[in-house]
Amino acid sequence: MDLNDVYKTQHKRYTVSNNINATNNLLAAVVDAGVDTHIVHLGTMGVYGYGSGGVKIPEGYLNVEVPLEDGQRVSQQILYPTNPGSIYHLTKSQDQLLFAYYNKNDGVRITDLHQGIVWGTQTVETSIDERLINRFDYDGDYGTVLNRFLMQAATGHDLTVHGTGGQTRAFIHISDTVQCIKLAIESAPVPGERVRIMNQMSETHRVRDLATMISYATGVGISFVDNPRNEASENTLSVENASLCKLGLKPTFLAQGLMEEISEVAGRYAHRCNPKFIPWRSYWRARPVSEQPMLLNEAELGEVMGDPTELIRPAN
Ligand SMILES: NC(=O)c1ccc[n+]([C@@H]2O[C@H](COP(=O)([O-])OP(=O)(O)OC[C@H]3O[C@@H](n4cnc5c(N)ncnc54)[C@H](O)[C@@H]3O)[C@@H](O)[C@H]2O)c1
Repeated sequence: MDLNDVYKTQHKRYTVSNNINATNNLLAAVVDAGVDTHIVHLGTMGVYGYGSGGVKIPEGYLNVEVPLEDGQRVSQQILYPTNPGSIYHLTKSQDQLLFAYYNKNDGVRITDLHQGIVWGTQTVETSIDERLINRFDYDGDYGTVLNRFLMQAATGHDLTVHGTGGQTRAFIHISDTVQCIKLAIESAPVPGERVRIMNQMSETHRVRDLATMISYATGVGISFVDNPRNEASENTLSVENASLCKLGLKPTFLAQGLMEEISEVAGRYAHRCNPKFIPWRSYWRARPVSEQPMLLNEAELGEVMGDPTELIRPAN
């Protein structure tokens, strides 16, 4: 086993043991303590995978009809099938079953917020004083895509797009995340209500479009690199997010806050970045992949890249 293999194994075991035990410990503790509380969980859109085949991903539940042998059909509502693409998303999928079980068996009131990728560092509250500022994860393994691009841009590193960057993902600004948690708490499920699942996202973007926007705004280059993850290089994504909007969420769009985020991070904290953490260390599959940049030629680039001036505007 080389170091990467050790890391891979540890990564899987650590993630499963930490995440699932933490959820189960909390649920069991709430039941043992005999308190009627409302648990709000930050889940993820990733439990659904990113290949819904054009279906708008509903908020947790799916209506199905099962044909019986005698030709009749039985209607049921089931948990929308999970299709996790990473060990982390797998643990969030397992969480969903734990919630369904504790809700059914012990009547625990639960809201599962299936959240998109969070971007942004500041909320109104953290802006009050620099000592309240959030941690900013930009590293290659745990950092999320937009944070990574922002830090790369701030330090003059090429933006590392995995594969062709056609992965479409859901995003939400950190202040909207906080707003959604508040809205969820204020509208707690009533006793006996099944697990409430809400999709917590504001907009979807393709990874290469994010890179284009940041490259256009900062002048930093883009490198298309081999993908260490096991995921489709191109996908579309459509997500239902009506529940939180009905509760009062007013989404912040990337086009509104991206420039401020670039200057906040670039202008003030780039000197604290450790470039050694920018490349990833873990691979999501056993098959070795090259770490060499997979540069697209000019014609291929022209085909995949969008017009930055078109991209930097509110989308939905
Ligand atoms: N950041 C995102 O883009 C994103 C997207 C979707 C879902 N989420 C989910 O939102 C939640 C918060 O994510 P974040 O990005 O703020 O992460 P974070 O790492 O900043 O915060 C996680 C917090 O959980 C604590 N924690 C970790 N293991 C624990 C344990 N065993 N017991 C108790 N506390 C523990 C950590 O100390 C930390 O304070 C996570 O559940 C994450 O899966 C995050």
